[in-house]
Amino acid sequence: MAIEITKSTVLKEKPDAEHLTFGRVFTDHMLISEYDENGWGEWRIIPYGPFSLDPSCMALHYGQSVFEGMKAYRTPSGKINIFRPKDNFKRLNLSCGRLCIPRIDEEKALEALKELLRLEQDWVPSAPDTSLYIRPFIFADDANLGVKASQHYIFAIILSPVGAYYKEGLKPVKIYVEDEYVRAVKGGMGFTKTAGNYAASILAGEIAEEKGYSQVLWLDGIHREYVEEVGSMNIFFKFQDELVTPALNGSILGGITRASIIELAKDMGITVNERALSIQEVFDRHAKGELEEVFGSGTAAVVSPVCELNKHGEIITIGNGEMGKLTQKLYDTLTGIQWGKIEDPHHWTMDIEE
Ligand code: COI
Repeated sequence: MAIEITKSTVLKEKPDAEHLTFGRVFTDHMLISEYDENGWGEWRIIPYGPFSLDPSCMALHYGQSVFEGMKAYRTPSGKINIFRPKDNFKRLNLSCGRLCIPRIDEEKALEALKELLRLEQDWVPSAPDTSLYIRPFIFADDANLGVKASQHYIFAIILSPVGAYYKEGLKPVKIYVEDEYVRAVKGGMGFTKTAGNYAASILAGEIAEEKGYSQVLWLDGIHREYVEEVGSMNIFFKFQDELVTPALNGSILGGITRASIIELAKDMGITVNERALSIQEVFDRHAKGELEEVFGSGTAAVVSPVCELNKHGEIITIGNGEMGKLTQKLYDTLTGIQWGKIEDPHHWTMDIEE
């Protein structure tokens, strides 16, 4: 596939890999394609820079916008791996379907991403726990204030060298169980990665942060009882006899890290149940001493231990406030595969030169 490349004349200085945070620094180039009445146009790599948008650009007013998150990893031999990229482009198209956004060609998108990564490979950091975050996104750019599907869209991929998502790094985070606001309901857009889902989460997140919590745990929008997800990650509960994560019910994001964790835990001989889980069950089983570990999973968050849950002032501490054994094992196994340090039995990683 021919991709036109316009190289940047001035290259940026690379950040200090030891002090990377999340999503603040961007590489020299980005990939772009535009959609009009003739479909998706040429795929171009151009210098990273601002878009020129009409003030009435539809995505700004009505939120017709979807995105993905994946990562590229530097392996010990120096080559660069991407993790399950086909699944991310598939999910991007799933989100597109719900938001009336024209789907992209998944094969072409993967080829274009690999081309972009080959050009930007010096940006993939090698310090421990760092990677190059990949953010594909599509937004409506018709200049039109009527509420309907746009006729024009921009697809882009930008890249950002990152460290840990949470300021706590790998230290366990405290989560507030949200009982006032909801993130999504069945029939809505909860299963998609669309901007509005994240906008809906910000107020509750800010309130939780004021109380000293890193994020909120969303409950279902109808009963306000069943655990859904955290917003930037899916959630897992390790009880004595089972590992439980909420079943995908239409309002929860089908995380690719979530799916990987389920597979890895099963490989380890653990009983994994995807089912409805009430917050009351979590607190009751904690009281009985059955709740051993809680952790989140996501591309950005990787596997992130949770040390405390606060449900309307009722606080439980999980384990002894430290990362649990299974959480650590799953983190080590997943990241070992992603960084190419251990065998990849499920063939999830892809070399960008492949
Ligand atoms: C990801 O894990 O890639 C996400 O999209 C979560 C978040 C940074 C919005």
